[in-house]
Amino acid sequence: MIKKCLFPAAGYGTRFLPATKSMPKEMMPIVNKPLIEYGVDEAIQAGMTDMCIVTGRGKHSLMDHFDKNYELEHQISGTSKEALLTDIREVIDSANFTYIRQREMKGLGHAILTGRELVGDNPFAVVLADDLCINLEEGVLAQMVALYKQFRCSIVAVEEVPAEETHKYGVIAGEALTDNLIRVTDMVEKPAPGTEPSNLAIIGRYILTPDIFDILENTEPGKGGEIQITDALLEQAKNGCVLAYKFKGKRFDCGSVEGFIEATNYCFENVYKG
Ligand code: UTP
Repeated sequence: MIKKCLFPAAGYGTRFLPATKSMPKEMMPIVNKPLIEYGVDEAIQAGMTDMCIVTGRGKHSLMDHFDKNYELEHQISGTSKEALLTDIREVIDSANFTYIRQREMKGLGHAILTGRELVGDNPFAVVLADDLCINLEEGVLAQMVALYKQFRCSIVAVEEVPAEETHKYGVIAGEALTDNLIRVTDMVEKPAPGTEPSNLAIIGRYILTPDIFDILENTEPGKGGEIQITDALLEQAKNGCVLAYKFKGKRFDCGSVEGFIEATNYCFENVYKG
């Protein structure tokens, strides 16, 4: 039912400089697989077939990764190393990849709006690939798609974070519908310490209904002078319904060095070896 997944991947990745000076953050490998491929795997597992990637300058390697490399394939054809390409070949064969460039970095909301042409008038998922989500039974997007089928409204994934961390995130407040589902009534982007409406932080997984695009068109730059998806979602919540979902699984902020190392250790033990 939700076939399209948007990957905003145009950011500068300044927290990981100098590694991200000429390499997209989304191409940094967790063990032997780039971050974005984990996100694409999660979207495919949730039944999605169209991967819409918002890129920027210097992000060519993203496109190359989801394309054939004939010279390399010819070189290792018939050798034991060929098996290392099995997974990515399957990914390339099971999804369509389209790209659009965000010419100016005006924030996540603007990156999502830039993807409008690729997404069209359909509900769609958003994955921020630097938030790596691992749940071995059912991926976080698959959990959210199941909820969307029931509620048919925008859904954001949230996680409880320590109070001193809330200033890094969009933070929600709302009415609990069940143990893991909240109807959003308020949403603040990067609240100043002590002003956070709760300890529930939005992480990089969303299901959005397409009316978000018209709202984003009319959203003024907010925190940091950027067009914020949280401002648009709050508008949507006021006029209709936005749900926040406490997902099952582990999430690593791979845009930070600490999160990246934790994810690497975890995936080496539980995904790569397992
Ligand atoms: P971040 O806040 O992590 O920003 O963006 P960033 O530039 O990638 O990283 P830092 O903070 O400088 O280290 C969240 C997501 O939104 C995308 C990023 O690529 C990332 O996936 N994004 C952000 C865009 O695509 N365009 C923008 O203008 C801003």
